[in-house]
Amino acid sequence: MKKNLHFFLLTLGFLLALSGCCSHSDPAAEHIKVVMKKYTIEPAVIHVKAGQVTELEVSTADVQHGFDVPGLRIKEPVRPGEPAIITLKTPPKGEYSVVCGIICGPHHDDMGAKLIVE
Ligand code: CUA
Repeated sequence: MKKNLHFFLLTLGFLLALSGCCSHSDPAAEHIKVVMKKYTIEPAVIHVKAGQVTELEVSTADVQHGFDVPGLRIKEPVRPGEPAIITLKTPPKGEYSVVCGIICGPHHDDMGAKLIVE
């Protein structure tokens, strides 16, 4: 039983290392996927470490949206099939609101999330 667990952890570690090798432009960066779709942003709370370079890979599941974090002066269009890579270098600690920056339908104003740098 213990041996199996060990093997599982080794395999998991290997897979994580493998997936990490090719998808990151900055190998030291933390990579977080964010998906926008009418009318949500997932995850609704994005946790980022203050001392860590973080890459947000923001994609849309339907139409064009905008990933805006006014408090960090981030404003990125997110087009279908073209995920936006947003690099957060050393953002100050705090809670920032994320809003949709491109009119995407009647509930555009309801699209929101929170970015927490801690
Ligand atoms: Cu999504 Cu506006």
